[in-house]
Amino acid sequence: MTQNNTGNSATLTVEGKSYTLPIITGTEGDKAIDISGLLQETGYMTLDSGYKNTGSCTSAITYLDGTNGILRYRGYAIEELAEKCLFIEVAYLLIHGHLPTRTEFDNFKYLLRRFALLHEDMIHFFDHFPPNAPPMSILSVMVNSLCNYYPEMGDDPLTNIDMTAARLISKIRTIAAFSYKKSMGHPLVYPRPDLNYCGNFLNMMFDKPVHPYTVQPETVAALNKLLILHADHEQNCSTSTVRLVGSAGVNLYASISAGINALWGPLHGGANEAVISMLKTIHADGNNFKKYIDKAKDKSDPFRLSGFGHRVYKTYDPRGTIIQEACDDLLLTLNISDPLLDIARQLEEIALNDEYFVSRNLFPNVDFYSGIIYRAIGIPTNMFTVMFALGRLPGWIAQWKEQQENPNTKIGRPRQVYTGEPAREFVPMNERG
Ligand code: MLT
Repeated sequence: MTQNNTGNSATLTVEGKSYTLPIITGTEGDKAIDISGLLQETGYMTLDSGYKNTGSCTSAITYLDGTNGILRYRGYAIEELAEKCLFIEVAYLLIHGHLPTRTEFDNFKYLLRRFALLHEDMIHFFDHFPPNAPPMSILSVMVNSLCNYYPEMGDDPLTNIDMTAARLISKIRTIAAFSYKKSMGHPLVYPRPDLNYCGNFLNMMFDKPVHPYTVQPETVAALNKLLILHADHEQNCSTSTVRLVGSAGVNLYASISAGINALWGPLHGGANEAVISMLKTIHADGNNFKKYIDKAKDKSDPFRLSGFGHRVYKTYDPRGTIIQEACDDLLLTLNISDPLLDIARQLEEIALNDEYFVSRNLFPNVDFYSGIIYRAIGIPTNMFTVMFALGRLPGWIAQWKEQQENPNTKIGRPRQVYTGEPAREFVPMNERG
C-alpha cells in the first residue's frame, strides 16, 4: 500500500488499485486526508490506536501548534488572554467565538450571579457520600443531577446558550466549594453577589464563621489566570469524551459529567496531583534530585518525572511558561516559601540541561507548576483536578455547542480490527469436560 499527496488530493494505492482522497486544509495550514469514504470504497479502514493521528472533527475554537508551542483561543494568543482577560470573558469568547461587548459581558455576569445558587434539595446529596469520596466523583454526580433540577435545558439548550452556560459555569463553582465544605464538616458559605467569579469561589471555599476570609486580589488574579490557561485544549481526552457522548444526542449536563470522569484520570487532569506527590517524595527523600533523574532515565524503573512532556507539544507547553511566572509572582507577593517550588525549579533546570530529556522533548507542561499555585492558594491536593474541571468547563460547553450546531454531526462510531477467535462451534456445558 502506498500513499502520496498530489496537491489538494491524495492517492492511495491498495492492492494495485488507486483511490483519490480529498485533502482538507485548516486556516493555519493543517492538512488532513479525508478518509471518511475509505471503507465503503476500498473495504479498508484505518487503524490509529489512541487516535494520535486522527482528526475527529473540524473545529473553529482552539488552535494548537505543538511543534512551535502555540496555543490560541478563537485566534487570540493564550499569552495575551491570560494577561489581559477575566476568566468569564474568555468563557464567553470560547462559547460565542467573539470577545464580549460591554453589554454582552454585563449580561453574562448578571446571569452568572443569578444562577449561582444550587437547588436546596441537591445540597442533601452531599450528606450521603462517604467521608472520603473523591471530589471528582462528587462533581460528576452533581453535574449529571442538574438535569433533574433544571430539565428545561434538555428540550432546546442552544436557544438560550447564555443561560445554559451561565447556569453550568456558576453552579459548578458552587458545587465544588460546597463539596469541600461538606468534606471538612464546615457550614456552607453561599455565593455573594458582590464578589467576582474567582473571588466568590475562594470565599465559598475558605470563609468560616469564626475566621472570616479576606479575598486577596493577588490570589484572585492567579486563580483567574490558571482557569483561563485550562479553559480549552482542542480534542484532548475529556473534550473528545464530551463530544462523543454528546454525539449520541444526550443532554449537555450528562455530556459534561462524562467529560469530568475522563478528566479524573491520572493520565489526564489528575496529573497535577501526581506532580505534587512526586515533589513530596523527593523532599521526603532528602531532596535527592539526582536519584530521581536517574530513576526517570532508567527504562526498567517504573518511575517517571510527572509534569514533563506532553502528547502534542514537542517544545515548551506555552501554558507551562505562563504558569511558572504566575507561580513565582504569587509566592513572592504572598511571601510564601514552599520547599516543593525549590525542588520543582531544580528538577526543571537539571532536566533542561540533560540530553536525555532534551532529546525526548521532555519540557515542563501545564501541570508542573499549577499544583504549587493551588497549594499557595490553600486548595487541598485532592481538589486540584476539580480546579482543572472548573477551568475546562467553558471549553467543553463550546465544543459541545459547536458539535450540536453542525448539521453534519453524526453519532461517533469508531471501528476496530477484530483479533479474537475465528468462528467456532458451540460446545454444550456437559460436553466441556
Ligand atoms: C489538556 O489540557 O487537556 C492536557 O494538556 C491534555 C491534552 O491536551 O492532551
